[in-house]
Order: sequence, then structure tokens, then C-alpha cells
Amino acid sequence: DTVESVIVAIDGPSGTGKSSTSKAVAAKLGLSYLDTGAQYRAITWWMLSNGIDVDDAAAVADASGKPVILSGTDPSHPTITVDGVDASGPIRTQEVTSAVSAVSAVPEVRSRITELQRSIAASAPLGIVVEGRDIGTTVLPDADLKIFLTASAEARAARRAGELKGADVAATREALVRRDAADSSRKTSPLAKADDAVEVDTTDLTLQQVVECVVTLVDERRAGV
Ligand code: DC
Repeated sequence: DTVESVIVAIDGPSGTGKSSTSKAVAAKLGLSYLDTGAQYRAITWWMLSNGIDVDDAAAVADASGKPVILSGTDPSHPTITVDGVDASGPIRTQEVTSAVSAVSAVPEVRSRITELQRSIAASAPLGIVVEGRDIGTTVLPDADLKIFLTASAEARAARRAGELKGADVAATREALVRRDAADSSRKTSPLAKADDAVEVDTTDLTLQQVVECVVTLVDERRAGV
């Protein structure tokens, strides 16, 4: 029998464990992995580096087709380049994190990045785990499995502050809640749970428990349960 490729969409707000979960599930199942937030961060970094005012939606729209963004989809070594330059470090700076919601709200940016995401998903040989905000609703509405991860704002802020060693939890929480509100309220393709997504609250779960839960759901879908 030929094994059918499987597409898994994992959406949810920041700090719910999307990246760790998605990478681990992809590695376990031998699937490719795509971090779509990294793509929005990459285009944002390019805008900032090229002196484009990220609050000027028309300027951002005009420039949105210029940078060449490439994603490496090996879950044990995901990469991202912009015009051939490794962007994995610069896309995680505070400057990019603060600007990414404005850039990713611009419809021209979304249509360009969405197209990229669909072509990457379509060419993954065994299938792919794609993490983001609108994967189940807009990018890959026919995904075999859709997961929507949630967690309390406290848990999300504590996790994020732990990643950014020494960061203040209260300030981290405030920035995170503000970004999620912006991402959820934008007009084009906001952060949202698809009607057919399985919601998993990760507040009191370990990463390993979340991964096991998602892997079981993939196995069930493959078995046609
Ligand atoms: O997952 P992340 O924090 O790296 O994502 C960064 C930003 O990118 C997030 O605040 C909103 C945007 N984003 C988006 O609009 N759509 C996606 N599918 C993924 C991310």
C-alpha cells in the first residue's frame, strides 16, 4: 500500500506550545514542518531592514512581493532565509515581534505568504505539520487534522518569559495579550479556531502529553476513525 500524505494544521495564540508541539509531532511521524509565524517575521524583518514604515499599509503592500523567503522544513533543523541570508536570529528580536502584527494584517502580505505556504504543503512528500494562526481556517481548510491549542494567559506568559531568559512575566504577559488581540481582531484571516478543529487546552499539560495527544489524533484520522 502507498501511504497517503497527511496534513496537520496547528493554530492558536502565542505561548501555547505550538512550535514545540508541531516540531515534535512532525519528527515523530516523519513529516515536514512549517513555522508560518517565522515567515511573517521574516517579511517584517525585511521591511524594517529596508526602511519601510510598517504602519504604512500601502507601503508595506507595495513592497510585499520583493523579498525572497525560503523555509527549510526539516523539523529537527528548521531554517528561514530572506534573499539568501539566514534570518533565524534576527526574526526573534523584540523589534520584529512588536512590528509583526501590523505587517501581517496587510492583505497583500497575507495573500503572498499564504500562496507560499500552500505550495510548500503541496510539495511535502509524506505530509506536513503547519503551525500558525489561520492554517485550519484559511490556508489549508482541507487539512486532515486541525488542532487549536489554548492556555491561560498566565501559563503562556510564564512560558514565553522562560524562553526569553530573565524577562519580566507581567510585561511579557501584557505584550503577548496585546499581540493576540491584534491578531484576532484584524479583518483579513484573523487568529481563529476552525469549526472542525480539536481544541486542546495545554495549561496543565506537559509538552510530552500534548504531543502524545496530537499523535494519537493523527493515527486515528489515518485509520479513518
Ligand atoms: O507564531 P509567532 O509568534 O512567531 O507569529 C508571529 C506573528 O505572525 C503573529 O503575531 C501573527 C502573525 N501570524 C499570522 O498572522 N498568521 C500566521 N499563520 C502565523 C503568524
